[in-house]
Amino acid sequence: MKIDELKTFKQSPEKITCLTAYDASFAQLFDECGIDVILVGDSLGNVIQGGENTLGVTMRDMVYHTQSVAKGIQGVLLIADMPYHSYDSANQTLANAQRLIDAGAQMVKFEGGQEHKDSFEILQANNIPVCGHLGLQPQSVIEMGGYKVQGKDEVSAKRIIDDALALEAWGVQMLVLECVPAALAKQVSQALSIPTIGIGAGLDCDGQVLVSYDMLGINTKHLPRFVKNFLKDNNDIQGAVNAFISAVKDQTFPGDEHSY
Ligand code: KIV
Repeated sequence: MKIDELKTFKQSPEKITCLTAYDASFAQLFDECGIDVILVGDSLGNVIQGGENTLGVTMRDMVYHTQSVAKGIQGVLLIADMPYHSYDSANQTLANAQRLIDAGAQMVKFEGGQEHKDSFEILQANNIPVCGHLGLQPQSVIEMGGYKVQGKDEVSAKRIIDDALALEAWGVQMLVLECVPAALAKQVSQALSIPTIGIGAGLDCDGQVLVSYDMLGINTKHLPRFVKNFLKDNNDIQGAVNAFISAVKDQTFPGDEHSY
């Protein structure tokens, strides 16, 4: 998928499918199954490196895994996460985002809102496509007091809406919403002209993402409510990925049991 096609998705009822991948073989399999977007997530800090959180992931790790994934894919849109403390200033953001683009990503993602205005603006000025990430931000797990649903009260919900609108104004082309009430995700999705990709954010986002190791039942530790194991009712990984894609496209996933 080309970045320009994101707008087409926003204007159609068809949902966008996204899975994380960290190596060439999984990425190739997901691409062959017809996934729309692959994210080289810094969740690799948990599922590949065995960390308690994503804070130990480095730019070097992200470049290595982005290069590996890029070698496995052909048509799929590739997004790479910017790790913790890799976008503290505008110039640092630009330099690190460029490294991920050089490694094969077409878009970079980083967590946070208006506090990163300078970073969003410098990437916009340099034509580097960006995906935002609001709601639960795993890189701020300590400040947020754990992995908790965000935007439950009026003030924090308004902050998420204001951040989303600001990000869109600063050229962000897609937005991940993690662990927010489904009603708030719907409101944000309706307010934006860019697609939203939900993870624990209900059915009304414009697409859905899951960590591949979670949806294949490989990771069994601390599974959040929004995870569904798609391998359980399928014989092989291809079957599980196809089931995830169909469930997102048919809008049977996420169900109420996966939402807040
Ligand atoms: O790192 C990651 O895998 C992510 C997804 C959870 C959206 O950011």
